Amino acid sequence: MNEIIQFRVMSTIWCLVAVVVTICHLANAEKLTRQCMASKGRCTRNKDSTCESNFGSGWERNGSCCRGRQCCVFQCEDIPTDSLKNGSVIVTERNTGSTANFSCDAGFSLVGRQSITCTASGWNGTIPICIIIACPETVAIVRGVVYIFKCKQANWFDSEANCKVHGGHLTSVETAVENAFLLDVIQLMWMETGNFWIGLTDNNTEMSYKWLSGNPLNYNDWFQGPPQQPDNKQFGGQPGAHCALIHDNYGLKWGDEDCLQTFKSICEIWLP
Ligand SMILES: *[C@@H]1O[C@H](CO)[C@@H](O)[C@H](O)[C@H]1NC(C)=O
Ligand SMILES: *[C@@H]1O[C@H](CO)[C@@H](O)[C@H](O)[C@H]1NC(C)=O
Ligand SMILES: *[C@@H]1O[C@H](CO)[C@@H](O)[C@H](O)[C@H]1NC(C)=O
Ligand SMILES: *[C@@H]1O[C@H](CO)[C@@H](O)[C@H](O)[C@H]1NC(C)=O
Ligand SMILES: *[C@@H]1O[C@H](CO)[C@@H](O)[C@H](O)[C@H]1NC(C)=O
Repeated sequence: MNEIIQFRVMSTIWCLVAVVVTICHLANAEKLTRQCMASKGRCTRNKDSTCESNFGSGWERNGSCCRGRQCCVFQCEDIPTDSLKNGSVIVTERNTGSTANFSCDAGFSLVGRQSITCTASGWNGTIPICIIIACPETVAIVRGVVYIFKCKQANWFDSEANCKVHGGHLTSVETAVENAFLLDVIQLMWMETGNFWIGLTDNNTEMSYKWLSGNPLNYNDWFQGPPQQPDNKQFGGQPGAHCALIHDNYGLKWGDEDCLQTFKSICEIWLP
C-alpha cells in the first residue's frame, strides 16, 4: 500500500518536473525566437545546418532559435575604415537599411555615391573614389584601371599617340557602369567643353565601329541610334565622321566626328 502511494507521489513529481521543464523550455524558446525576430532574423532548418548553407553568404549567426537551431541575421560586407583613399568612411551598422557614408579630404572630389544602403542582396552601390580634378590632366584609378582625362585638345590620332606615351590607349567604354563613371568625372572637370575622344573608330568604313582594343562594340551610348545612323557623315557637309567622342552637344551621349577635329580625350591604362 505504502509502496503504491510512494510510486504515485513519485510519478506525480516526475510529471510536474517534466511539465515545468517543458514550460520553461517553451518559454525560453519563445523568448529567443522573439529576440531573433526583433533582429529580423531567420531560423535555420535544423540545429546542424549553418546560416550560410541555409540562406547564402552574408547570413551570420546571432543567437539561437528554439530547439537549438541558429538564429541568422543578414549582414552586408564589411567596409573597412581605410577603404576610401584620401577620404573617410562612416559605417555604424551593416543590417538591411543601414547606410555607409563617404566623404573626401579637402581638395579631393568624390566620384560615385556619397551614401550606399545595405539591402537584402548587399550594398546597393560601390565604394566611390576621391580624386583631384586638375588640368592638364585628371587621374582616376578604379579597380586596377588608370584613366587619364586630358584637358589639352588634340585630334583623334594625336590623342591616341599621347595615350600610348602613358602605355595605354584612348579608352574603351564597355559597360553602362564604366560610362557612368566617365561622365561623373567629365561633369566635375567641365570647363568650356565636355567633348572627349574615346577609343572608337570605324577606320573609314562607315558603321563598322570597333574599339582600339580590338573588342567589338557590344555596349554603346550613341546619341542617335537606328533608324538614324549613329554617324555624322552627312552632318552640315563635314567630311566623313569616323571617330567617336563623348559629346557635350548631345548631353554627353556619344557622337562621331571628323577625326581631325580637336577635342579633349580620355586614356585608359591597365595596371599589370
Ligand atoms: C544580434 O542580437 C542582439 C541581441 O541578442 C541584437 O542586439 C543585435 O542587434 C543583433 N545583431 C544584428 C546584426 O541584428
Ligand atoms: C592621399 O592618400 C595617399 C595614400 O593614402 C597619401 O599618400 C597622400 O598623402 C594623400 N594625399 C593627401 C593630399 O592627403
Ligand atoms: C549617412 O547619412 C545619412 C543622411 O545624411 C544619415 O541619415 C545617416 O545616419 C548616415 N549614416 C551613418 C552611418 O552615419
Ligand atoms: C539604394 O537604396 C536607397 C534606399 O532605398 C535609395 O535611396 C538609393 O537610391 C539606392 N541606390 C541605388 C544605387 O539603387
Ligand atoms: C585602319 O585600317 C588600316 C588598313 O586596313 C589598318 O592598317 C589600320 O591598322 C587600321 N587602324 C585602326 C585604328 O584600326
